[in-house]
Amino acid sequence: MQTKSNREELTAPYEWYRQMRETQPVFFDQKMQAWHVFRYADVERVLSDHTAFSSDQNRFMPEEYRDANPFTLSIIRMDPPRHHQLRRLVSQAFTPRRVAQMEARITEITNALLDQVIAKGEMDVIQDLATPLPITVIAELLGIPTEQREQFKQWSDAFISGDGEATAEDQQASIQAAGSMAAYFTQLFEERRAHPQDDLISALLQAEVDGERLSNEELIGFCVLLLVAGNETTTNLIGNAILCLDEYPESMELLRANRNLVPGALEEALRYHSPVKLLPRWSVSETMIGDQHIEAGQVLLTWIHSANRDETQFPDADQFLIEREPNRHLGFGRGIHFCLGAPLARLEAKIALNAMLDRLPGSWNVPDEPLSLVKNMSTFGVKKLPLVWEKE
Ligand code: HEM
Repeated sequence: MQTKSNREELTAPYEWYRQMRETQPVFFDQKMQAWHVFRYADVERVLSDHTAFSSDQNRFMPEEYRDANPFTLSIIRMDPPRHHQLRRLVSQAFTPRRVAQMEARITEITNALLDQVIAKGEMDVIQDLATPLPITVIAELLGIPTEQREQFKQWSDAFISGDGEATAEDQQASIQAAGSMAAYFTQLFEERRAHPQDDLISALLQAEVDGERLSNEELIGFCVLLLVAGNETTTNLIGNAILCLDEYPESMELLRANRNLVPGALEEALRYHSPVKLLPRWSVSETMIGDQHIEAGQVLLTWIHSANRDETQFPDADQFLIEREPNRHLGFGRGIHFCLGAPLARLEAKIALNAMLDRLPGSWNVPDEPLSLVKNMSTFGVKKLPLVWEKE
């Protein structure tokens, strides 16, 4: 398929992963004191085998280094049996039905956002649509009052900026944001306990498995996780999908001719430029990965970005092919921690892309200027994504 441009900033990392898959597929990084895992089969194995590879980093830390922030206490950093119990509990509230019921509202929010840019003939996909859409949707789903939403976006942004590559200042801001969110949620839980509403928080407060309910800390952990795990990733899915279509104009034509191809195009965007670059795990006991001996308690960084471009799993892996079948990408993870928000993310991205195809006529063009990537070790997306289209 014909491609439009070859942006160095987007292609360079994939070239590095390819070299690593070929030469050092399981590699110990002295500086980070962590194993990097690059091949599809190895990444899939590590993510699928939760008994050998733990998600609970605190399990391997001395007491004084254990992390107590609400994100790390959430299900994404837990092992069974607790993970299983909590996932059953939260799944009672965060149901496919509740997500499906949001469809009309997501469409309304999307169209209202597009209304603001339509006359201009240009937009910043990230700022004008891909960022405000998921934050508004999750805030409405949870039942967070409108006047608090801007504050939430700020907390969520500050919290994420405390990632591995962050400065000491960013890390401090991240800790403060987590504290502020936790305090706010505690107050909101009190209100909803007294006056339940038809929202996710009220449903979470009522969810029960084997006579057990979520503790206050677990509730906070889950709400913070939804905000943090669900917002930037969905923003990046929408942005990355537009980047893919810009790089492969022929796939735009296919989509315009047949909208049934939209879900497949989004799955291919999840593979080609996954919003999540890597996932961490901890080895429970001694094991082998490939020909490398891994000791107990070591950190493994499983590179989804590399696995999703592995030729042994995906023929023509460096091509964006919207009709790719099968497409067993690892963009939403694999195994017991498989993304709980995948149906919501898929629905939001589908509505956003269809609305853009409906309302932004003619050919689209991302100006050929350098793109700035989000500075974050584990997520992938661009900070800004200018898009112009032909006015009617
Ligand atoms: C877990 C990706 C959107 C909620 C995960 C995992 C990945 C992922 C890779 C697995 C983590 C692991 O194994 O350690 C994504 C991507 C998204 C997205 C690429 C958007 C395109 C969302 C949304 C929500 C959400 C919208 C909710 C509002 C969660 C939760 C988990 C999770 C709760 C933890 C599940 C568990 O530990 O059992 N996500 N996610 N995600 N995601 Fe998402």
